[in-house]
Amino acid sequence: MNHLLSIKDLSQKQLQELLTLAKQIKANPAEYSNALAGKSIATIFEKPSLRTRVSFDVGINKLGGHAIYLDQQNGAMGKREPVKDFATNLSCWVDGIVARTFAHSTIEELAEHGSVPVINALSDMYHPCQGLADFLTLSEQFDDVSKVKLAYIGDGNNVTHSLMYGAALLGAKMTVVCPQGHFPDGQVVVEAQEIAAKHGGELVLTSDISALGEQDAIYTDTWISMGDNADMAEIEAKFKPYQINAELMSKAGASYFMHCLPAYREVEATAEVVDGEGSLILQQAENRMHAQNAVLVTLLGQ
Ligand code: CP
Ligand code: NVA
Repeated sequence: MNHLLSIKDLSQKQLQELLTLAKQIKANPAEYSNALAGKSIATIFEKPSLRTRVSFDVGINKLGGHAIYLDQQNGAMGKREPVKDFATNLSCWVDGIVARTFAHSTIEELAEHGSVPVINALSDMYHPCQGLADFLTLSEQFDDVSKVKLAYIGDGNNVTHSLMYGAALLGAKMTVVCPQGHFPDGQVVVEAQEIAAKHGGELVLTSDISALGEQDAIYTDTWISMGDNADMAEIEAKFKPYQINAELMSKAGASYFMHCLPAYREVEATAEVVDGEGSLILQQAENRMHAQNAVLVTLLGQ
């Protein structure tokens, strides 16, 4: 493992090892307080962030490393200078690059031209760090994640893609319910279904919300992602039947609600569900740091 660009690049064993390490770091942080001693990591953000920015900064600090935050005010990648030059120059000084970009190809370019590990902190295609934190969260609720029935309802997006790969690798059953025209990327679906078949998992896609069936956890995300210029009124009208509310949770018998955040209450999910008893949102947010620290230790640790 040289980089973390997408969960699809991991083997089942690598994914399981990352989740195990994340649990160890969470339980015994002092044992890892020097894991990144003397290491510096550049964190590049083309888009806003609360959880990813803070969890990487604090997490790197807890591992004894040093994080350098690069926003786009002092020269956007590809504008002031090419992405290739960003990668080659940063590689002269830092030991790793964490990047949140609009285009996934920018992250691939950083990995291609740089000589240090690159971690995807969200692109238009994937959000692997989120997916890892989410499966860590599920593995804290369920003894055997491969038996979990997870439903994702809403816009088929970067988060959906990473969840699909993760569920497939872990051999879990995942149902993705999206309005017509908002399904996940076709190639990702095919790949995730192939991975699921190999590991005894199942990936079902439908736009029929009434066909949801029994679920353990229901996950949703914003209906309009960063960088997506869709018209909110049109999206709300189309997505309204897919809102997560108490009735839907109860009908599916789902104990848990999940959301990567930021959440828009009364839009993709009601406040009653987002802030309700079965909501795992803060456990997911906390686990971002532990999952990312497992990635950092694996890629850069000594
Ligand atoms: N879930 C997530 O990535 O949050 P931020 O956009 O705040 O980093
Ligand atoms: N799908 C969302 C996730 C935010 C963490 C977006 O890309 O904006």
